[in-house]
Amino acid sequence: MQIDVFTLFPEWFDWMRRPRHLANATGGEQLELRCFNFRDYTPLPAGQVDDSPYGGGAGMVLRVDVVASALEAVYGCAADAVKDERHVVVLTPRGRTFSDAIVREYAGIERLTLLCGRYEGFDGRVHEHLASDELSIGGFVLAGGETAAMAVIDAVVRRIPGALGNADSLEHESFSPTLGGRVEHLHFSRPAEFRGWAVPDVLLSGNHGAVARWRDEQSKEPPTPSDAP
Ligand code: ADE
Repeated sequence: MQIDVFTLFPEWFDWMRRPRHLANATGGEQLELRCFNFRDYTPLPAGQVDDSPYGGGAGMVLRVDVVASALEAVYGCAADAVKDERHVVVLTPRGRTFSDAIVREYAGIERLTLLCGRYEGFDGRVHEHLASDELSIGGFVLAGGETAAMAVIDAVVRRIPGALGNADSLEHESFSPTLGGRVEHLHFSRPAEFRGWAVPDVLLSGNHGAVARWRDEQSKEPPTPSDAP
């Protein structure tokens, strides 16, 4: 899988090569992670990348000509043709809410391009003409798409074969079809008692059937986003 990130802060992604599952995937060559700075491709003098919005209002907008020129320089084709070859995603609060189903969908994609906006985001024509999809990581506004892109990369790369030490954990984890979309039970380890807080007896019983039943009982429906004030 090849993941390209377009951002004004490519160096923020350096640490993303370090978590074990990402290091496994890049080291094993199942993943190529590349980062590009919009500013390196701007056709405007003085490295300008943004502008004030038509119609007025606060904030700045990342310009469509800057995004198009970055895509064209990197992929060597018309900016609106990139999405014919790759899945081009704008990270934005307007997007589909990222979920386990989308993680599974994305894990099957060979070439992914993530566009990270800042300020008020991108000129609308980036969404309309250059993107295949729009993703949000939740009902809140981030200062930019970078941390959202990191969440997408983290979750998707876990699903690349060989990224996780124990692929079994993918089978029974929260939101998996095996758990019927529910979230997993809590996990406990040594010490069996800490400050009077005991591990549930059943986990120490050695009775595998009882443990499995307890775990099933303890998994639950995921919390839903609350819009209560
Ligand atoms: N950019 C700003 N807020 C965002 C969000 N919630 N999800 C994805 N990208 C964003």
